[in-house]
Amino acid sequence: MCAAREGRWGRRQRALLCCVLVAAWEAAWGQLRYSVPEELPKGSFVGDVAKDLALQLPTLRDRGARVVSADRTQYFALHANSGHLVTAERLDREQLCRLVERCVLRCEVIVEGEMKVYGIEVEITDINDNAPSFRESEPELRISEMTAPGSRFPQAEARDPDVGVNSLQSYELSGDEHFSPSVQAGADGEKRPELVLAKALDREEAAFHELVLRAIDGGEPLRTGTARIRVSVLDANDNAPVFSQAVYAVRVPEDVPVSSTLLTLTATDADEGINANVKYSVKKATDLASEIFYLDPETGSIRLVRSLDFEESDSYDLQVMARDGGGLSDTAMVSISVTDVNDYAPEISVRSALSEISEDAPAGTVVALLHVQDRDSGANGEVRCSIAESLPFRLERALDNYYSVVTSRELDREEVSEYNVTVWASDSGSPSLRSSAVLALRVLDVNDNAPVFAEARYSARLPENNAEGALVLTVRAWDADWGQNARVRYRLAEGRVRGAPLSSYVSVQAETGALYALRSFDYEEVRKVGLWVRAEDGGAPALSSNVSVRLLTVDENDNAPQVLYPPAASAAGAGWTGVELAPRSAEPGALVAKVVAVDADFVGIDGVRAFLHSYSHEVSLTANSRKSQRRWAADSCCNTLPARLSSEVSLALSSI
Ligand SMILES: *[C@@H]1O[C@H](CO)[C@@H](O)[C@H](O)[C@H]1NC(C)=O
Ligand SMILES: *[C@@H]1O[C@H](CO)[C@@H](O)[C@H](O)[C@H]1NC(C)=O
Repeated sequence: MCAAREGRWGRRQRALLCCVLVAAWEAAWGQLRYSVPEELPKGSFVGDVAKDLALQLPTLRDRGARVVSADRTQYFALHANSGHLVTAERLDREQLCRLVERCVLRCEVIVEGEMKVYGIEVEITDINDNAPSFRESEPELRISEMTAPGSRFPQAEARDPDVGVNSLQSYELSGDEHFSPSVQAGADGEKRPELVLAKALDREEAAFHELVLRAIDGGEPLRTGTARIRVSVLDANDNAPVFSQAVYAVRVPEDVPVSSTLLTLTATDADEGINANVKYSVKKATDLASEIFYLDPETGSIRLVRSLDFEESDSYDLQVMARDGGGLSDTAMVSISVTDVNDYAPEISVRSALSEISEDAPAGTVVALLHVQDRDSGANGEVRCSIAESLPFRLERALDNYYSVVTSRELDREEVSEYNVTVWASDSGSPSLRSSAVLALRVLDVNDNAPVFAEARYSARLPENNAEGALVLTVRAWDADWGQNARVRYRLAEGRVRGAPLSSYVSVQAETGALYALRSFDYEEVRKVGLWVRAEDGGAPALSSNVSVRLLTVDENDNAPQVLYPPAASAAGAGWTGVELAPRSAEPGALVAKVVAVDADFVGIDGVRAFLHSYSHEVSLTANSRKSQRRWAADSCCNTLPARLSSEVSLALSSI
């Protein structure tokens, strides 16, 4: 009634068995031994107990034979009808015996009716039902690339619970020529696999190696277990950075904006981590270049920190360096050439200039000296100067970059009194830049214009009997010159009137040109006066011009008609004068008498007409213009004028 296994529990089982034997049972000593492979299905045949114990089958059946074991699990059963020992459970040798080489299960057959017990040992034989296995199926390994070949890297061994040939026999390694397998036999007979570095690693060539370690047992069929070993190669700073180019050349226009990136250096380092962390620096550069360019240590970009100026320098050379975290470095040259851009306009500077010029200055008179320059180079710095063609000035090249501005003809202040002469300077760049300078030039007056009267001739009508000092007319002359040269003064030219000096008749006010009558004019005495007024300017020498002035005296009715016939009565005997005799037989309309009167005033206005003052009805008067219109019979002064003057004569008529 006990089961025992050899090995760890053997002693306890044996003691138990002794107890059993000491019992009152009459034990029939017979030891049956069977052997079955593990993993048989339940109910598989183990051994023919009845036959081997020479027991009659009916005995077994009737006497109550049964199998007992000390284990909680009954692994075997007795088949009563056949007397066969069969498996009652699936038997797993590895589970039942673990590491025990020889796995034996014990049990007893008890025949109760006969009070007999028979021991049975069943050896469970191993079958190759387990494959070797690694605890970690994908172990990782980190190895520095500097590791010397021959170095060993022990690996965890695989386990195979089977025994004997069914257990782990060997290892195989595949996947990479850099590693070869090796097996170390441990003191306990274990086989420890190792990786041996067969060939130096190079991270830059292969950063990872995938290895397959296979553990193989010797069973039939063979079973294997694999572990995929991932070897990471750790970097060693075995590579210096390398610039992508030995010389970086770039051309940039000088007007590139500040903070533009001109180029970017690239250095690569085959290492990794800090060993591949490349920093850029300028190894050698002029002070000017260091001031202008900034090399970003991280990105390698070269930026502009100050504006370029072709005229300052047209190229820069920098020696640059790339250094990795491990101190290895490379150098390269950077050549930056600056191209000219038309960024400067020409500059005109007036070195000397007149501010005034006399209008009679001869053509070719220099009025200014200019200096022109352009700080650009080549075509961008070639300057052409010009002046508007409409102006009476032209440019003459004096020296290199010097121009003189000269008059191209005589000037006329009266036409243009001041000039703003704009001188343009333009360069030949594209687009062209230009600038200008303005020369302000005032034209000085020269007395080159005589006064000019407003009218070609003047005439005025002056009513006779004028007041002395009456204004007759005003002459006016203009002078195109300026200042004193334009200051006109008037004066009367010499002349005589009726033997007397003209100046006793009229005068001209010098400043205003007003002509005054100095005496009262009598039409009947002076009917017209011709004179010249001279206008003279204040220049030196003075210029003058003359204008003729005609004064006409206008008649006024200042004379009464004078009766010439019949003669006036004597002063003593006022009244009738003369006696005209008219025949009695005179027809109506017959002439009876004739009166003749004259008037000193101008005919037409102051003509004479005769009319009867008192008369008889037989007599009438008829005007007769027999001689001329100048001879009217009586005063007929303009009806409209109040100043009608008259004289009277009395006629005495008597009929015969
Ligand atoms: C010349 O320029 C000045 C200043 O700009 C201006 O006052 C003047 O009127 C200009 N003269 C002419 C003739 O354009
Ligand atoms: C003006 O008259 C003066 C004298 O009568 C004479 O000498 C002078 O030449 C004249 N000038 C002109 C411009 O006619």
